[in-house]
Amino acid sequence: MERVRLCVNIDHVATVRNARGTVYPDPAHLAVLALNAGADGIVAHLREDRRHVVERDVRLLRSLCPYFGFEFAMADDIVSLARELRPDLAMLVPERREEVTTETGLDVVGERDRVAGVVAQLREDGISVSLFVDPVEAQLEAAAAVGAQFVELHTGPYSDAESEEATVDELQRLRVGAAFAERRGLRVNAGHGLRVDNVGAVAAIPQIEELSIGHAVVARALSLGIEGAVREMREAIRGDG
Ligand code: PXP
Repeated sequence: MERVRLCVNIDHVATVRNARGTVYPDPAHLAVLALNAGADGIVAHLREDRRHVVERDVRLLRSLCPYFGFEFAMADDIVSLARELRPDLAMLVPERREEVTTETGLDVVGERDRVAGVVAQLREDGISVSLFVDPVEAQLEAAAAVGAQFVELHTGPYSDAESEEATVDELQRLRVGAAFAERRGLRVNAGHGLRVDNVGAVAAIPQIEELSIGHAVVARALSLGIEGAVREMREAIRGDG
């Protein structure tokens, strides 16, 4: 077993399917191939507008995947679905309809009561909860205070940094954030925008347990097949990519 687990976010398989309203490619099929190629788990984000995965996909993924991370915003119907499906990890994210992808971390400080309520409901059902947050002390402090067991550090600003200097700064924020989260008793995952060429430095942060990676794996699968794309990402996480 590897020190850092790779969870493949399968949303964009559904994006291709939905572009033509076909039944293929099927995220559940590609999820099984990804698991067979060495992914440790599968993640899907059921958005309120259902722009990629739909409820049918999530139900199927839950039943097929030995480890299923369910990502969602705090909408009542989706929280109820999560409580019914009991994913291995409930991953709470903010959601704005007009965004292309998740843009910022959850404002746990600003929405403390609401987040605490949802975390309590999920934990009551024995579901582990992760909050997607920026590596900011106040947010991490609040994540621990509302009872989440995990945080997923937002690696988008690191991935999108446009200069060497900015990349180094963002990586340092992630390192400091991960160490702070650990001191607050949180377990630490990370994700967003990670690619083969930038994942190694994040995977090397000692507190990081799991990475959630979607777009880069699905995009690379067009050239290499999903098996090749998963293997390539695994190697990059290991540091020999
Ligand atoms: N983590 C979270 C919270 C996300 O919203 C996403 C995108 O759905 C990811 C990780 C994966 O990001 P990417 O597709 O850029 O690898």
